[in-house]
Amino acid sequence: MQNQLKGILQTAKDKISSTLSTEALEALRVEYLGKKGALTSILRQMGSLSAEERPIVGALANTVRSEIEEAIKNKATELKGAELTQKLQKEKIDITLPSKKVALGTLHPLAQVERELSEIFIAMGFSIVEGPEIEKTYYNFDALNAPADHPSREPSDTFYIGEDILLRTQTSPVQVRAMEQKKPPIRIISPGRVYRCDAVDGTHSPMFHQLEGLVVDKNVTMGDLKGTLDKFAKIYFGENTSTRFRPHNFPFTEPSAEVDVSCFMCGGKGCRLCKGEGWIEILGAGMVHPNVLSASGIDSEVYSGFAFGVGLERVVMIKYGIEDMRYLYENDVRFLKQF
Ligand code: PHE
Repeated sequence: MQNQLKGILQTAKDKISSTLSTEALEALRVEYLGKKGALTSILRQMGSLSAEERPIVGALANTVRSEIEEAIKNKATELKGAELTQKLQKEKIDITLPSKKVALGTLHPLAQVERELSEIFIAMGFSIVEGPEIEKTYYNFDALNAPADHPSREPSDTFYIGEDILLRTQTSPVQVRAMEQKKPPIRIISPGRVYRCDAVDGTHSPMFHQLEGLVVDKNVTMGDLKGTLDKFAKIYFGENTSTRFRPHNFPFTEPSAEVDVSCFMCGGKGCRLCKGEGWIEILGAGMVHPNVLSASGIDSEVYSGFAFGVGLERVVMIKYGIEDMRYLYENDVRFLKQF
């Protein structure tokens, strides 16, 4: 029996040392030390031994058990270490692989143009003021000297929310709000959305963008207006650009003008962009009507001012040769990617 025990110890040690995985090691533990294991079955036969032999075999059995346990423990530690190293090796991340490109968006062309125009006027000393898109009829029409029967007041032209509340049809109401809040000198621009009851087509949209400008001070003249807009046109469309002021009518300015810039594509000779005219209309402007100054509490005997309004869609379309306004609102990435 002693030889049997020594044999068990030897084979167990051999098997344990050649084990390659934690699972196989666990199987060996069951095989030798488990309830139905080799060692247990020997110990069961102890009853047949003589009284002298029993303690000797018992002691040997205990030694064998603890040596096998020790061997298993050491092997387990060894295997764990090896398995961890293997796992780390396998899961190693190759940081030299080129990364996936992140798709970066760009500013919408309307936002770009709004910023470009704003920067030009900021450099001239204007500051940006914003006004509400849901506006009182008073600010959109009455305070801007629009006669009671002005066609733009019709519900067929303007979106009314209530009797006295509407979606602003122009950025001009910001002029009035600015003058109510601040005494001259005033030098502001106000970019933003405006709304009109127009069906969507290549040149119309019920929502579009304008940028309003207003200057009020002592001794402001038409010369200041012309100089400011001419300078703006030269910065934005190129140094060789000239401007042309054609008489027009706006209720809130007197005199009023529509302003054209010489075509930056053909230099004024006439081409597809300017439709053979040599000139492109870009804004409305004029000297602030005395009634508008007075409505906002500014003494029109002391102060004068000029105002202008640019359609941002128009500027974008002219600048990039875009033929249909709808591209600006459809958010087709193939279109937007080009800016
Ligand atoms: N509000 C005018 C429009 O929408 C533009 C404009 C602004 C004209 C300021 C003159 C002065 O057509």
